Amino acid sequence: MKNYKLAVVGATGVVGRTALKVLEEKNLPISEYAFFASKRSCGQKVSFLGKDYTIQELNENSFDEHFDFAIFSAGSSTSEKYAPIAASKGCIVVDNSSCFRMDKDVPLVVPEVNPEDIKKNKGIIANPNCSTIQAVVALKPLDDNFKIKRIVYSTYQAVSGAGRDGIYDLENGIEHFQKGDNYINNTKSTPYELKKFPYPIFNNCLPHIDNFLDNGYTKEEMKMINETKKILHNDSLAITATTVRVPVINSHSESINVEFEKEYNLDDVKKILSEFPGITVIDDISNLKYPIATDCTGKNEVFVGRIRRDYSLNSGINLWVVADNIRKGAATNAIQIVEKLIEFDK
Ligand SMILES: NC(=O)c1ccc[n+]([C@@H]2O[C@H](COP(=O)([O-])OP(=O)(O)OC[C@H]3O[C@@H](n4cnc5c(N)ncnc54)[C@H](OP(=O)(O)O)[C@@H]3O)[C@@H](O)[C@H]2O)c1
Repeated sequence: MKNYKLAVVGATGVVGRTALKVLEEKNLPISEYAFFASKRSCGQKVSFLGKDYTIQELNENSFDEHFDFAIFSAGSSTSEKYAPIAASKGCIVVDNSSCFRMDKDVPLVVPEVNPEDIKKNKGIIANPNCSTIQAVVALKPLDDNFKIKRIVYSTYQAVSGAGRDGIYDLENGIEHFQKGDNYINNTKSTPYELKKFPYPIFNNCLPHIDNFLDNGYTKEEMKMINETKKILHNDSLAITATTVRVPVINSHSESINVEFEKEYNLDDVKKILSEFPGITVIDDISNLKYPIATDCTGKNEVFVGRIRRDYSLNSGINLWVVADNIRKGAATNAIQIVEKLIEFDK
């Protein structure tokens, strides 16, 4: 069997480190690995599959030696500069940043939803935004069966989605709260350093993820709207979104309200969702069973619960969708794309 060579760029970050864990859990036919980060982490050691590797500094020549695949998780500017270099040297890049997602020549892929789009790649495949990935996994089987007309997204997103600095802000906030620092009514003069968010995330919900745009939405909200249309191949879908950062370390939760064109039966919806690859339905309200962030952390699936009719519409439904944003929302999805590339290469 053919053996492949894979690079992970951003191997020291939140997503990169999880990618290493997911790779260790899978048994892919990859015989050589290399791990890259910036100058800051160059020389650090990582233990992977029982072997010690040294983190290398990424530069223009990093892809002179041939790699079959590279998973990039090092931010948009790094992807913008280095992903085309890697692709020009015959490496297929799976990019976690937002840099190429809306590029018409770059497939935007969730393997359970649109795996065939992988075949159209010209050297770069984009991994969608974390909040989009878990949403479209839940929506795809419903769209196939009942034809979605409109989607209303409301998200409750974990700080790990903002990388190491996001986690720092929450943990540092908790530490200061425990020390008795009183900033609860005084967010303007936070007595501790904030690395990522404009206000303390501890004890707050911030209706603000990524930058604000001229249309009043945040970039994160527009990513969910535009990426959903691209992945579901439907530009005319009506979608709106409000994305909120909440004081949760890991796993994004989403309330998704959907209007269908066709009538549906609630039991059919539950069956269709539970039979779809990558979805686990947890929906037993009489026993208080529904997906929660702490249970979903460390798992690769998308969890769906609170499945109930929206009585304000002719054919509408509400869903509660939770997934580990670092796994299914980033690392796992990227590695599943690599698995598909290997499958298609056979
Ligand atoms: N966190 C999520 O839920 C999530 C989900 C989907 C997508 N993403 C995307 O994935 C990417 C990484 O996110 P993250 O949360 O893992 O961020 P992070 O924890 O801040 O890690 C950033 C990583 O990028 C590396 N890096 C930064 N500048 C670099 C450069 N010039 N050259 C090479 N490596 C460089 C860092 O290396 P050093 O150690 O040397 O600084 C580190 O390994 C971002 O594009 C993000 O938007 C994140």
